[in-house]
Amino acid sequence: MNFHLVSIFPHFFETPLHSGLMGKAVENGLVSLDMVDVRRFAGGVHKSVDDRPFGGGPGMLLKLDPMVKALDSIESRGRMLMLSPRGKPFDQAMARELSREDDVTLICGRYEGIDERLLDLYPIELVSVGDFVLNGGEIGAVCVVEAAARLLPGFMGHEESGDEESFSAGLLEYPHYTRPEEFNGLAVPEVLRSGDHGKIEQWRRERSLTATLEDRPDLLPGASLTVEDIDFLRVRPRTRLGRNLYIALCHYPVTNKFGEKVAVSVTNLDLHDMARVARTYGLGGFYATTPIADQKALAERLLEHWTQGAGSQANPDRAEAFSTVKVFDDIEGAVLDIQRQTGQCPRLAATSARLDRGKGADPALTCFEVKKWLANSPVLLIFGTGHGLAEEVLSKTDGTLRPIRYLDDYNHLSVRSAVAITVDRLIADEY
Ligand SMILES: C[S@@+](CC[C@H](N)C(=O)[O-])C[C@H]1O[C@@H](n2cnc3c(N)ncnc32)[C@H](O)[C@@H]1O
Repeated sequence: MNFHLVSIFPHFFETPLHSGLMGKAVENGLVSLDMVDVRRFAGGVHKSVDDRPFGGGPGMLLKLDPMVKALDSIESRGRMLMLSPRGKPFDQAMARELSREDDVTLICGRYEGIDERLLDLYPIELVSVGDFVLNGGEIGAVCVVEAAARLLPGFMGHEESGDEESFSAGLLEYPHYTRPEEFNGLAVPEVLRSGDHGKIEQWRRERSLTATLEDRPDLLPGASLTVEDIDFLRVRPRTRLGRNLYIALCHYPVTNKFGEKVAVSVTNLDLHDMARVARTYGLGGFYATTPIADQKALAERLLEHWTQGAGSQANPDRAEAFSTVKVFDDIEGAVLDIQRQTGQCPRLAATSARLDRGKGADPALTCFEVKKWLANSPVLLIFGTGHGLAEEVLSKTDGTLRPIRYLDDYNHLSVRSAVAITVDRLIADEY
């Protein structure tokens, strides 16, 4: 496999790509490294490769001319990748794809990057090695070369090594141990010394599952899991962000379609469906708020029927869901109740089907931000009935979540659907 490394600092690659197994692969011809020094193609006495960006701003840019000449000097470029923080995230699947190529060209930027027109001239794919900014593309190129090359048949000696590692099966890898069996009182797990291959395999699978659940739960939706895996994960301790999340359905003050402040009646269906979401996602609680006496009485009667009355006898699952529901006059009452239970003042996030287009309005909250809040404090997520929450509720919150489907123009979900979708985006299956 041939890698063409296009850089203004080709000496950068000397040690990392000539050490260990990588060095051996280069020595025995499994991998060839073609260093393309861009500076060699620069004109003028100073051999300058960079210039100032049009439009101003700090830093310099790599110029087109030497870069184009450098790329044209490569006989067989194969797949062309440019290292860039704005590229597609590089991962194990891409490493595997690249390991099937004969030639890969890796273009390393420096300074503020490269004149954008290079992307119009060649079929270049941008790849990033992480959401951080490095000084140049060389370190990223080393990552790409090493991750792809080590998957080549013959690189590692044991062909199966690459299949058992982190990410190969969508899970993190299990831990490894070597001699001595005991070090400063720390013993190698008994099972690994037992010689029982079935047990060893099961232990390794379980440790992979545990590590992934603890450290990278975001990988689990993409991992292929057996029923045994799921049963194992189900009883593991989890970061249950749901416990910190409370939902409220506000029946007053909300708006009607003319933007006027109104009260909306309590409905049986909303209470049932939101209670079921609250219980399913393990939420801290669900508050239905209305200051109107007969509406409160109606809601209390429904609760009583499903938690203690005939409803609870007929459907104990529903009784469990309804045990999450409380009826209060207003959002302030719900806030005080959460404070009483947790000793912390909850952060308040409103929800709306519409973006706030007011001049100088703050950008809407993202689920990502609210998820971060949930890691540290209780959060009350407020949903409105009618045409949405009135300004006097919105103004008391810490922000409003970006509407669901904010990039499309039709957005008329029932509040029950909006609750289910929003809660799922915040908690998902793994938290
Ligand atoms: C200082 S960076 C340029 C950053 C650029 N102005 C920006 O904000 O996206 C210089 C070069 O380093 C490389 N680089 C920096 N961070 C990287 C990352 N996370 N992944 C891949 N390449 C990166 C790229 O080749 C980039 O052109």
